Amino acid sequence: MKFLVLNGPNINILGIREPEIYGRQSYDELCALIKEHAKKLGVQVEFYQSNHEGDLVDAIQRSYFDGVDGIVFNPAAYTHTSVAIADAVKGVGIPTVEVHISEVSEREAFRQVSYIRDVAVKTITGRGFAGYTDAMDFLVKLQGDKK
Ligand code: DQA
Repeated sequence: MKFLVLNGPNINILGIREPEIYGRQSYDELCALIKEHAKKLGVQVEFYQSNHEGDLVDAIQRSYFDGVDGIVFNPAAYTHTSVAIADAVKGVGIPTVEVHISEVSEREAFRQVSYIRDVAVKTITGRGFAGYTDAMDFLVKLQGDKK
């Protein structure tokens, strides 16, 4: 089983950006945690992060041709603005879990809109980095239920 862990803008500066909201751990530390969890689950994991909307659309499309079984996706600020990214997720039909490190429901009004929520199989918010590993557990279980 192969998962893509996809992150949007400013996730590459975790640890630097608003540590009171996103914590002090870096993007590399996040990837290390996910790799360790993937090993435990016996799944393959690939990472991609971009600050550019079209790059994220390209990565989602690529995952279809690469036979990715599930996407763990934090679209970051594009969550609240991007029809193109939501269309890509819907278009490829790969089960995608929307993850947010912070509890977006308790933040600004403009963060209350998510274009991804409707096309995702699940949304996880406010669990910090654990949201990513929770999403992997969910996708493994989902694939198991399908068989
Ligand atoms: C975020 C929440 C978004 O509103 C924000 O723009 C981000 C990160 C989160 O992980 O909590 O960049 O997706």
